[in-house]
Amino acid sequence: KTVPGTASPLLAWYDRHARVLPWRISPDERAHGVVADPYRVWLSEIMLQQTTVQAVKPYFAAFVTRWPTVEDLAAAETEDVMKAWAGLGYYSRARNLKRCADVVAEDHGGRFPDTEEGLLTLPGVGPYTAAAIAAIAFDRPAAVVDGNIERVFTRLFEFETPLPSAKSEIRTFVAAATPADRPGDFAQALMDLGATICTPRRPACALCPLTGDCQARKSGRQEQFPVKLPK
Ligand code: ADE
Repeated sequence: KTVPGTASPLLAWYDRHARVLPWRISPDERAHGVVADPYRVWLSEIMLQQTTVQAVKPYFAAFVTRWPTVEDLAAAETEDVMKAWAGLGYYSRARNLKRCADVVAEDHGGRFPDTEEGLLTLPGVGPYTAAAIAAIAFDRPAAVVDGNIERVFTRLFEFETPLPSAKSEIRTFVAAATPADRPGDFAQALMDLGATICTPRRPACALCPLTGDCQARKSGRQEQFPVKLPK
């Protein structure tokens, strides 16, 4: 197995079809020199951990309006943060969110650490979230692997090993495929591909920018991946 050049067709697709989401820099903003705000990237990634994009949107907007910076969030009352979180669920996320804001404000001068290792020290930030923030906010070529990205990769390379055993091998492949240029867009492009085209059922292979590179597609077995453990 080799890792073909997935990055350039994927990024070209992303430039045309990226979902417009409130925590992303739009191509137009980027053209005007706007760069990612680590606070917004972190906040969105915490909210998106167990919650859908559609459900997160209004909460994200409410939080950044009320608390535009990590220092504003650190200065907030925990009770107010918990109330603003109400409805998103998994309330330990909100408690850690506030703790993390306190740590960044007090111990890091209001600036998020800019490496995976540094980010991993923060409350509520695990390996996925650290990689996502490092890539999206700081252009680090971190391997970002979520459920959508796992599905895309099991299909590209016909991973016959069932999840979850395949996870470490998938991570190796994602790491090898992640480009030094635009690693954050690469990760988000894979997320969008998984959400809109490389869906669990009836993937829209005809629209996929990676269709020519996809081993499962070549053998017509795209819906058979990821292989699950027998129940
Ligand atoms: N899910 C988790 N992080 C995401 C992001 N940055 N964009 C879209 N969906 C996501």
